[in-house]
Amino acid sequence: MKIGILISGRGSNLKSLIAACAEPGFPAEIVAVISNRPEAAGLAIARAAGLPALVIDHKLYPDRESFDAELNRALEAAGVELVCNAGFMRILSDGFVARWHNRQINIHPSLLPAFKGLHVHRRVLEEGVRITGCTVHFVRPAMDEGPIIAQAAVAVKPDDTPETLAARVLEAEHRLYPAALGLVASGRARVRGGIVEIDDMKGSRCGPMFVPAPD
Ligand code: GRF
Repeated sequence: MKIGILISGRGSNLKSLIAACAEPGFPAEIVAVISNRPEAAGLAIARAAGLPALVIDHKLYPDRESFDAELNRALEAAGVELVCNAGFMRILSDGFVARWHNRQINIHPSLLPAFKGLHVHRRVLEEGVRITGCTVHFVRPAMDEGPIIAQAAVAVKPDDTPETLAARVLEAEHRLYPAALGLVASGRARVRGGIVEIDDMKGSRCGPMFVPAPD
């Protein structure tokens, strides 16, 4: 499956997807990396891997619709079949989301539906939550909503700061996103009645993938 990766910044999830796609037999191929920010560090990661990396600077477009139209045009021109948001910090219009319905996935650093939005790790600590993690899900118009494909749990430690917790969740993200992408790109994960169903390869079906917290 041909995938396009949308980024806005650091690009560490992009890096983990690049590594996965380089594995023999992995069912996805990266055909485009697009950033809405010219200064995104992830662009250099993509170029170093020999991938086509494009900037579509949202500041050069008068409104959300015209930016999204250009983004859509670039994805289609590259032959993208599945869009992977990896730290992409723009809200997409309903039209764009509808165009890529069940063909766009995102990673979020919490166990959704808890802690949608920004400053997740700080809020997790403020609430005294003991278990957090990350989620890969299909994209829907509302931010950080949509059928869950895979989740990984991460235990919160008593002495965690937002930074130490973010670092452990990020490690989990780097394992989870390639695994979830593999399920979608191979056709093993499908949305049924608003919930993701996964073929377990033994002929039966199970719910979304779950990775327990490491000891
Ligand atoms: C990750 O924590 C991801 O879950 C969130 O934004 C961050 C992006 O980090 N959506 P990176 O650019 O992939 O390093």
